[in-house]
Formats: sequence, structure tokens, C-alpha cells
Amino acid sequence: MVVSPERLAGAPHPLLEGLDAGRAAAPAAVVIFGASGDLTSRKLMPALQALMARQQLAPGTSIVGVGRSDLDHEDFRARMRRAVEQAGDVDERAWAELEGGFRYVSGGYDDGTTYKVLDEVVGDLDRERGTAGNRLHYLSTPPGVFADVVRRLGEVGLHRPALGGEFARVVIEKPFGRDLASAEALDAALHEVLDEDQLYRIDHYLGKETVQNVLALRFANSIFEPVWNRRYVDSVQITVAESEGVGHRAGFYEEAGALRDIVQNHLLQVLALTAMEPPVSMSPQGIRDEKVKALGAVDLLDAAEVSAEVVRARYRGGWVGGAEVPGYLDEDGVAPDSRTETYVAMRLRIDNWRWAGVPFYLRTGKRLPKRMTEVALQFSGVPHLPFAPTQAAELGPNALVLRIQPDEGITLRFGAKVPGQSFDVRSVSMDFSYGAAFLEEAPEAYERLLLDALHGDPTLFIRTDEVRQAWRIVQPLLDAWADDPAPPVDYDAGTWGPEEADRLLAADGRRWRRP
Ligand code: BG6
Repeated sequence: MVVSPERLAGAPHPLLEGLDAGRAAAPAAVVIFGASGDLTSRKLMPALQALMARQQLAPGTSIVGVGRSDLDHEDFRARMRRAVEQAGDVDERAWAELEGGFRYVSGGYDDGTTYKVLDEVVGDLDRERGTAGNRLHYLSTPPGVFADVVRRLGEVGLHRPALGGEFARVVIEKPFGRDLASAEALDAALHEVLDEDQLYRIDHYLGKETVQNVLALRFANSIFEPVWNRRYVDSVQITVAESEGVGHRAGFYEEAGALRDIVQNHLLQVLALTAMEPPVSMSPQGIRDEKVKALGAVDLLDAAEVSAEVVRARYRGGWVGGAEVPGYLDEDGVAPDSRTETYVAMRLRIDNWRWAGVPFYLRTGKRLPKRMTEVALQFSGVPHLPFAPTQAAELGPNALVLRIQPDEGITLRFGAKVPGQSFDVRSVSMDFSYGAAFLEEAPEAYERLLLDALHGDPTLFIRTDEVRQAWRIVQPLLDAWADDPAPPVDYDAGTWGPEEADRLLAADGRRWRRP
């Protein structure tokens, strides 16, 4: 498509037409299942109050908690107030708007009475606070009850808007299934009650500004896309590193491990955005179609390849950020004979015209030296280097690094002449930093995603075929590891992972970046 300069200067770029987060959402009852859990207090409630503070929620928007804890409306409101206080400042004007709209329904997720009471509570809100029959259900429960909750919502009719309202949508937290078969079964169960366009499968990485900026960088500029392919890119590294350990989440993590917790979702989503073809538009379908195609082009590993192309590891005790930390096996709630991995490194190939022959190296781990997520494109060398080896001794490959977090920005590494009489060339960096370039503050990922769900914009949520493609990539690893009695290899907490991961790249004559 040809875009005239006038168009770029004035009306929105056609590629960006789908994005509009400036409007206020329609009033709704936001029903949070798992309301007494950590996510509600740490992320959802602070995000909702921030949206109200920016007047992006309609007055009357009400928050209904559902959970097994025995709370009443007043307890829940007080708890949500504390959550907002802990997350930062309370915006008293926003709070005053929200304050009268807190309700709590206490009960089991498999108990029909819970839903009957919920139906009455939500109906009362429609009358008392003008929530207009709109419902946004947010499933932040243990994944085992997702299908049950949705079935029960269907039984009492809460899966449809009431009173001629506009919408009833369901946001589903990860993990979406444990493997390909369970994800498909979950999908089938959800689709018995809901249409696909009511389902918002969340991956909070897609709510991060810098993850969305992968699209802006690639498709709003003419200088990057021409080199974004096998002709110029030697290899791609995607890293999601965390310095934290498993903390108090061992119960969940023992079942998940790094593969299900990070690779299947966050890492593969970032991979899809990095590798996809240009979309025709920024419409939900435009973007998600291309992501599905990119994931679909990933070469699936067979059992033998899993052992050659993938490293799974687990942290031993060590030092991170100046503090001594225990090994995974010594964390509370971890089984002594656990085989759960806290680190995965892998080499993937994408079999299409753009990427054939370009290795994608992916890694993620807990208890690495620092929290850092980045995408690094390493470019091929020049065809002929007209310098003596000594002159170019400090010249590394050209690289474009998208710093997703923290210190959000972009770095371009290239060679420059070292000042002086000799002609030495050394690698230098050109940095763009979000913090320095923009006065606007980036909204938290959950703010963006909650608002999009209320607006009915599914672009940044995972479509059913994307989930399936992601599990398809991960399934051979799950199968191979299930058959392998050996525990993961060890790495010391505070290091960048095991030697085996270094050898994976060394075999290709490459090295992991050491940020
Ligand atoms: C979550 C995982 O999805 O993402 C956690 O369950 C992980 O284990 C977290 O710590 C990382 O998110 P972020 O936004 O801190 O990079």
C-alpha cells in the first residue's frame, strides 16, 4: 500500500487504524473470579482504579469479586482499597466513583448457588448503578475450574448481556491448558457456551508497550523491514530473564515449569511478533492471522531433536543481587524429587521465505543475574572487511536490540572508527530510551488489556488458533521430557544458565548475549 506523506502527517496511518484507547469504555459489571487472589490485588484492582482516574471507565462501572474466601461487600471494598494503597497512591476522585460499586459473592466455583447469587447481584447493579446489562467476567482462578465457571455462567444466563446491553465477555488468565490436548478440550468446553469473539485469552506480555512497539518499529518505518530477513539477519535471540526465584508460587510452578509458564506464551508471542509478515491492517484479524502463520511455520522438533536443540535446567543455590538465595529444590513446596525446569534454552527454525536458515535462539530462566527481556537481531558480517585483523579486533557483529524491559528502548550496535591516528574500528551503541524520548507514561500492561477487553478489541489477546499453534511447538518437548527420567541440568543462581546452553550456540559458532 502506498501511503502519501500528507497522510502520514495528518490522518492516522492506515496500519494503526485499529488502535484507539482514548475512548471511555461502556459501563459494565466487571466480575472477577479469584477475587481474593494475588493477581486481583497486585494488578487488576490498581489497573481498574488507574483507568477510572483517567476517565477511561464509565461512571457506574462496578467490580464484583467472586471467591472462596468468606468476605462480605464491605470486607472486599476495604481489601481493594488496601490493594490500591499498596500499589501506589489512591486517586480519591476515581475511588469515589468506584467505591459504591464493590460487591462480593462468596462461594465455590462448582456450586450453582454461587452463580444464582451472582446473577442477582449483577442484576441489582444494572438497576442501581447503570451497568446497562454489560458484563466483563475475568477468570483469575486456578485453571482447573475455567471450564466449570463458564458452564455455570451459561446456566444462569450470565454469558449474555442483559437488558439489551452491548456485551458479555470472558477474560481468561494463563495457563490455557497444560498441553495441546487439554488446551483443545478447554477450548471445546468454552465454545459450548461462548462464541470465539467473547473470549479474551490474556497474555500480559502483549499489554506491554515495548512488545507492541515491535510492530511500530517494524511496520511504521521504512529502514528496518528491508533488512528484517534471512538476507541480512544472521540469527535472533529472544531472552526473558528473571532474577526472582519461584517465591511462594511453588504449588503452581511445580506443575508448570518454565516451558509452560513462559515459553508457551510470553516467549512464543514475542517470537510471533518478531517473525510475522507485515499485516494488511492493525485490525485484530490482520495481526492475529499473521502471528498464526509465523507460529505455524516453526519447524516442530522430533524426540531426537529435542535433546539436541533444547536445554532444560534448574537453579542451584547461589547469589543474586548481593543476596544468597536457595536452590529450587530447597524452595518451600518443591518436591525433593522434582523434575521441574526453571530454565529453558532452545534453537528453533522458521521454515518460510523470510527466515529459512536463520536460527532463533530462545531462553528464559528464573534466578538469572537480572530481570531483562529483549529481542536481539544479530546481522551478518560485511562481505569483505577491508581492515587488518588487529584494526577490527574490537568489532562485533551489527545488532539491533529491542529492550522490552526494564530500561525500555532500542539499541543499535555498529562499528565506528576509534579516534586517533590509527584506523581501528570498535563496536559502539546508539540508544533510544522510552523514558528519555517520551513525556507520556506507559500504562501498565493490565490497564491496556482490561480497557481493550471492555472496548471489545481483541487484538492483544490470543485467538484459539494461536494457542493451538503455540502448544504444537511446545508439545514435543513435553513428550520428550515426560519420557526422560533424568532431572534438568543444574545452573548456579546468579549466572546466565548452564554450560549446556552455551554449548548449544557454540556449536553454531555463536554466543549468547551477556547484557
Ligand atoms: C508470569 C509468570 O506470567 O510472568 C511468572 O507466571 C513470571 O512466573 C511473570 O514471573 C513475568 O512477568 P513480567 O511482566 O514480570 O516479566
